[in-house]
Amino acid sequence: MTGKLTESLDSDRISANLKTTRIGKKLFVYKSTSSTNDVALRCANKAVNDGLVVFAENQTAGRGRGKNKWQSSAGKSLLCSILLVGYKLAQQTISLLAAVAAAEAVGEEAKIKFPNDIILNNKKAAGILIESRQNGDSTSFVIGVGINCHQQAEDFPEDIRDTATSIDLNSPRQCDRNIVARRLLRSMDSWLKRVAKNPDALADAWQQRSSQFGHSVTVIYNGRKFSGVCMGIDTEKGLILRMERGGIRIFEPAQSSILSVS
Ligand code: BTN
Repeated sequence: MTGKLTESLDSDRISANLKTTRIGKKLFVYKSTSSTNDVALRCANKAVNDGLVVFAENQTAGRGRGKNKWQSSAGKSLLCSILLVGYKLAQQTISLLAAVAAAEAVGEEAKIKFPNDIILNNKKAAGILIESRQNGDSTSFVIGVGINCHQQAEDFPEDIRDTATSIDLNSPRQCDRNIVARRLLRSMDSWLKRVAKNPDALADAWQQRSSQFGHSVTVIYNGRKFSGVCMGIDTEKGLILRMERGGIRIFEPAQSSILSVS
């Protein structure tokens, strides 16, 4: 499908029948920008921008977690950043709800690899980069989501070709990025509404989508390896492991990545 024309991202199509209360009241769609997270971060100091969503067909300096770059050929991904201004939620809660919402947007088969990778058929289909700014006693969060939509294997750089996938590679039909976008915004809006009253529902949704729950997991935390069995998720603190060496330990998302699951 390389070279085949795909749909354009279109703010009218994304917002048609969106019916969210907070997310996506204001949408920007760029042909190209450095990083959608940069655009959203520049808007983070104004309360009126709460719920703003920035999309781009192309990024010239897309960022991933840690020191990674996020590269994607133009028009093939959903590249977007959702801005939340003035929240008192823990970063772990935001990270968790972003992962669940992104998995729901990718599809029924999508799994979550803690903290923020979305997996289809054992390969990475989407990633999330959360950046924040403190404003007094509240925080603004930018949730950057990159979902591989129309890529074929040859569209991925060689070093990730064996580990990356896209929605189209796992489906008989080409997806429509405007519909994937709408699913993402609806899901994010709905979890944001529910999480304060019912954090357990978010933990349950994570558990059902998690590829680690109940398995032996090795986590890299601040550069060190820790192994244990995944017992679940704490919606404010992180991944709960019963450690091989005894005791329970919780790993915060920002410093953690999963090395292996068995
Ligand atoms: C990762 O898995 O390392 C996170 C990738 C996040 C990529 C998205 S694409 C939209 C937004 N803008 C960026 O520069 N990064 C995020």
